[in-house]
Amino acid sequence: MDCLSRRGLISAASVGVTGPLLVVDDAEAGSRALIRTNQVPVGGGVVIRNRRVVVTQPRAGRFRVFSAICTHQGCTVSHVADRRIVCPCHGSRYAITDGAVVAGPAPRPLPRRAFVVRRGRIFLT
Ligand code: FES
Repeated sequence: MDCLSRRGLISAASVGVTGPLLVVDDAEAGSRALIRTNQVPVGGGVVIRNRRVVVTQPRAGRFRVFSAICTHQGCTVSHVADRRIVCPCHGSRYAITDGAVVAGPAPRPLPRRAFVVRRGRIFLT
C-alpha cells in the first residue's frame, strides 16, 4: 500500500496507540469493525478517533470499549499510556479497566460502549 494513500493517511491520522505507530486499515478490518483484536495491545489500548471510541485490553483476551470523548469538556482522548486513557486538554486520566477517572478534572467515567467480538474483530452493537 502506498504510504500516502487516502486510506493510509486517514488511518494514521485517526488512530492513537500506545508504543509504536499502529496503522489500522479500515478495509482490512472490515467496513464496520472497529479494529482487529490482535491490534489492541495487552495492558493498553487504541484510540479510534474517527469512530470516537477507545478500545482497551486490560488483560489478555478481555476487551473494553469506551467513548473517546472526555467527560470534562469534550476533548477527544489522545492515547493510552501506563494503563491510563489520556485526555490531552486538561490532564484527565481514565482507567483502561472500567473507564473510571483516576486523575484530572473529569467529573465522570468514560461511558462504556456495547460491542461484540466476531472472528477476531471488534464491532459496536
Ligand atoms: S477536556 Fe479532557 S481534561 Fe478537560
